[in-house]
Amino acid sequence: MRKVAIIGGGNVGATAAWQIASRDVADVALYDILPGVPAGKALDMTQAGPVFHFDARVEGSDDIAVIRGAEVVVVTAGFPRKPGMDRMDLLKKNVEIAKSAALGIKQHAPHAVVVVITNPLDVMTWVIKTVTGFPKERVVGMAGVLDTARFATFVAMELKCSPKDVRPMILGGHGDTMVPLARFSTVNGVPLSELMPAETLARLADRARNGGAEIVKLLGTGSAYYAPAASATLMVEAILGDTGRIVPASTYLEGEYGFSGIYLGVPVALGKGGVRRIVELPLDAAEKAALAKSAENVKTGIAEAKPLLG
Ligand SMILES: NC(=O)c1ccc[n+]([C@@H]2O[C@H](COP(=O)([O-])OP(=O)(O)OC[C@H]3O[C@@H](n4cnc5c(N)ncnc54)[C@H](O)[C@@H]3O)[C@@H](O)[C@H]2O)c1
Repeated sequence: MRKVAIIGGGNVGATAAWQIASRDVADVALYDILPGVPAGKALDMTQAGPVFHFDARVEGSDDIAVIRGAEVVVVTAGFPRKPGMDRMDLLKKNVEIAKSAALGIKQHAPHAVVVVITNPLDVMTWVIKTVTGFPKERVVGMAGVLDTARFATFVAMELKCSPKDVRPMILGGHGDTMVPLARFSTVNGVPLSELMPAETLARLADRARNGGAEIVKLLGTGSAYYAPAASATLMVEAILGDTGRIVPASTYLEGEYGFSGIYLGVPVALGKGGVRRIVELPLDAAEKAALAKSAENVKTGIAEAKPLLG
């Protein structure tokens, strides 16, 4: 079976490992710095194989060499903000972690496609690309799949329709500055604007924009991981299966949408080798302005991260 590696065996990483293995998408290698934890989680998942009838093998280790031979590496290593930590402290910590993950990938899985999950997403994806030196096609960030899934969930709840039929399109940076495109969002081909008033659409988009914070508040400690892991799994399946699925993903831009040298969420076709192509949508003035604001945010983050790379 083919192999997927996951760097960071916390909530998102272990859940993604479980989804990938239990769906028999690929064998999984789970790496974390915590001694024993990835091996324990891997053994636990493996013991579900006879129950759920999957063949995928799950191996866990605190030795990064476990990722060797992986065709796709998912990076979930990183810390959420702790009390007393400011944004810059968190950035420093996660840049350090992303850098060490990137060096490990470069050494042990130099031909892999990398799917980055660690926040701040667009900046961390840029860090991994910069440190690995991989071509832009092979380093992509997961945010848009989750943001669209959240928006689709709220639309389906509002319309009492099947979430499977809701096809939203969201561009831009992860979270606060995401840009939902009502014109390109449909319920089985019917534009959302035909199905609900603009104010309802705006309210649902806002709930999706704050979807992560809503869950953090409910959980008390930690943040969302089932839907984030499912979103990563979808991207892994598209890459391994060479399906060409079009999803919004954080992608390195070189002139597309008028931006260069940054990662930003745009629609891409995913397949063997990562990003097969970037789909450029004809945006109107308001959409362009919202995307530019989002890009500014990412540019600031990259400018802050650059000196931390040393
Ligand atoms: N992109 C998205 O849409 C999205 C969604 C959810 C979470 N996230 C982000 O994903 C990251 C992980 O979230 P989580 O809930 O799994 O956190 P978590 O705290 O449960 O897990 C993080 C894991 O990373 C490990 N780790 C730390 N340094 C490491 C290193 N150098 N190498 C390997 N592993 C290391 C920790 O030991 C821990 O097990 C966070 O940055 C979070 O903000 C992003």
